[in-house]
Amino acid sequence: MRQVPRYLLIGNGRVARHIQHYFTQLGLSFTTWQRNQSFTELQQHINHVTHILLLISDQQIEEFITLHLKNTNALIVHFSGSLVSEKAYGAHPLMTFNQVLYNFDQYQRIPFVIDHDAPAFDTLLPGLHNPHVRLDKSLKAKYHALCVLSGNFSCMLWQKLLTSIEEEFNLPADIAQLYMQQQTQNLLTHPKTALTGPLVRGDTLTIEKNLAALEGDPFKEVYESFVKCYQSLK
Ligand SMILES: NC(=O)c1ccc[n+]([C@@H]2O[C@H](COP(=O)([O-])OP(=O)(O)OC[C@H]3O[C@@H](n4cnc5c(N)ncnc54)[C@H](OP(=O)(O)O)[C@@H]3O)[C@@H](O)[C@H]2O)c1
Repeated sequence: MRQVPRYLLIGNGRVARHIQHYFTQLGLSFTTWQRNQSFTELQQHINHVTHILLLISDQQIEEFITLHLKNTNALIVHFSGSLVSEKAYGAHPLMTFNQVLYNFDQYQRIPFVIDHDAPAFDTLLPGLHNPHVRLDKSLKAKYHALCVLSGNFSCMLWQKLLTSIEEEFNLPADIAQLYMQQQTQNLLTHPKTALTGPLVRGDTLTIEKNLAALEGDPFKEVYESFVKCYQSLK
C-alpha cells in the first residue's frame, strides 16, 4: 500500500503561501517552517515527514540543504525553474505567483516541469494530479531565461503602459484593459500571427517617431533592442 505523504513546506514567500493554500484545498498533510522559527523545530519536523519542499530563494537552496537537511530520508524537492542541483529534484510550476491566492481549479491546472532524472510524479509530489513534463537539466537555464523574458519582461512593458496612462497622460488605466485582454487572447488562439504593429508592417517612419518620442526614457533602449531582435529573426 502506498505511504501517505507528509510534507514539510519550507519558506514563507509568495510560492510558499500559494502552495500551503493549494495543499489545504487538496487535504494533504503538511507542516511548515520559516526562518523566524528555531532550528530545533525544523529538526523535529524533518523527522516526521516524507517530502520536503524548499520554497525559498534559488541561491539559498543548496546551502540550506547542506547546512540543515543532511540527516533526512525525506525526498527533497525545490521549485526553481533555473537551479540545477544534485542535492534536490526540481519541479518548476510554470506559473506566476504574486500576493493574491488563486482558486482550486487554477492550481490543479498548473503544469510542473520536472527534472529529467526525477522520480515518477506521484512519487515526487504525491497527492498532486497536475499535468507535468520532464526537461533535461542541461536545458533548464535556457528554458528559465525564456520564461523570464516572456512572463516577467512583458509584465514590465504592460506596467509601463499602465503607469504612463495614469500618471503621464492623466487617463484612467483601465482604458488599456481590453487591449491587454485581446493581445493575450490572440496569443492564446493564434500565437504565430498575434504580433501586429509597425515592426510587422515594416513601417520605419512610425518606428523612428516612436523612438524619438521615447528620448530620455529607459524604455527607448528596450524598443531599439526589440527592433534589432525582430530584424535578426526575419
Ligand atoms: N514567484 C513565482 O512566480 C515563482 C514561480 C515559479 C517558481 N518559483 C520559485 O519558487 C521559489 C520561491 O520563490 P518565491 O517567489 O516564493 O520567493 P519569495 O517570495 O522571494 O520568498 C522567498 C522565501 O525564501 C525565504 N528564504 C530565503 N533565504 C532563506 C534561508 N536561507 N532560510 C530560510 N528561508 C529563506 C524567505 O524568507 P524571509 O521571508 O524570512 O525573507 C522567503 O520566505 C524559488 O525557487 C522560485 O524560483 C517562483
